[in-house]
Amino acid sequence: MAGMKALVFAQISLQARPTRVGEGWTCGFQRVISAMMDSFEFNKIAGALLFSVLVVLGLRSLGETVFHVDAPEKPGFMVEIGAGDSSAGAASSVAAAATPLPVLLASADAAKGKKAFKKCAACHKVDAGASGGVGPNLHGIVGKAMGAADGFAYSKGLKEVAGAKGPWSYEALDSFLTKPKVYIPGTKMSFAGLKKEADRANILAYLKEISPEAPAFPTE
Ligand code: HEC
Repeated sequence: MAGMKALVFAQISLQARPTRVGEGWTCGFQRVISAMMDSFEFNKIAGALLFSVLVVLGLRSLGETVFHVDAPEKPGFMVEIGAGDSSAGAASSVAAAATPLPVLLASADAAKGKKAFKKCAACHKVDAGASGGVGPNLHGIVGKAMGAADGFAYSKGLKEVAGAKGPWSYEALDSFLTKPKVYIPGTKMSFAGLKKEADRANILAYLKEISPEAPAFPTE
C-alpha cells in the first residue's frame, strides 16, 4: 500500500515540473491538481478495499467471540453402569436401575413439590371440599380409594381399574404420574407424565402434606 502511494506521489511530482519552454509552474500546478484528483480516486478505491478487509476481519473475530465454544473437559457422555452384579449380564447393566421409591422419598422436598404441582393445579384443586376443575379434587388423595372424589365424573378406564388397583399408595401414585395413560389405560387425565423421578418424589411429598390421613413413607 505504501509502495503504491509513493508511486502516485512520484507521478505527481513528475507531472508538476514545467515541461515545455516558457511554461511556468502555474501550468504544472494545474496538472498536479488533476493528478491529485486521480490520486483521490485511487485513495477512494484503496480505502474501500481496506474497509472491506477490516469488516471481514472484524466480523470473523466478532463471530468467534459470540459463538465461542469451549471444548468439553470430558468428551462424549457418561453411561452409568450398574455396580457389581455380574449375574445381571452386560446388556442389562448398561441402563442404570431406577432408584427405589423409599430412597427417593427419603430425600423428597415437599416445598419443591408444591412448586412443581403448579402444572397439576391447572386441573386439580387441593383445598378440602373445593369443587370444579378439569380433574378431581386431590385433597387427602394419598391412601384414598381411586376415583372417589365427590361429584367427579371419572373415565370408564379409571373406574374399571379402581377396584383392582386399590387405594392410592405412594407406589401407585408414582407409577400413575410416570405415565398416566400406561398405568390407567383410557384415563381422561391429559397429562404426558413426569419423567424425572425426583420431580415425582417431590410431588408425592407435597401430596402427603395435603392428605391428613396419609400413611408414613414406605421405608423398604
Ligand atoms: C389437563 C388436566 C390435568 C392435569 C394437568 C393433571 N391432571 Fe390429574 N387428573 C385429571 C383428570 C381429568 C383426572 C381424572 C382421570 C380419569 O377419570 O380417568 C385426573 C386424575 C388424577 C388422579 C386420580 C384421582 C382420583 O380421585 O382417583 C390423581 C392422583 C392425579 N390426577 C394427580 C395429578 C397430578 C399429581 C398432576 C400433576 C403432576 C396431575 N394430576 C395433572 C386431569 C389433570
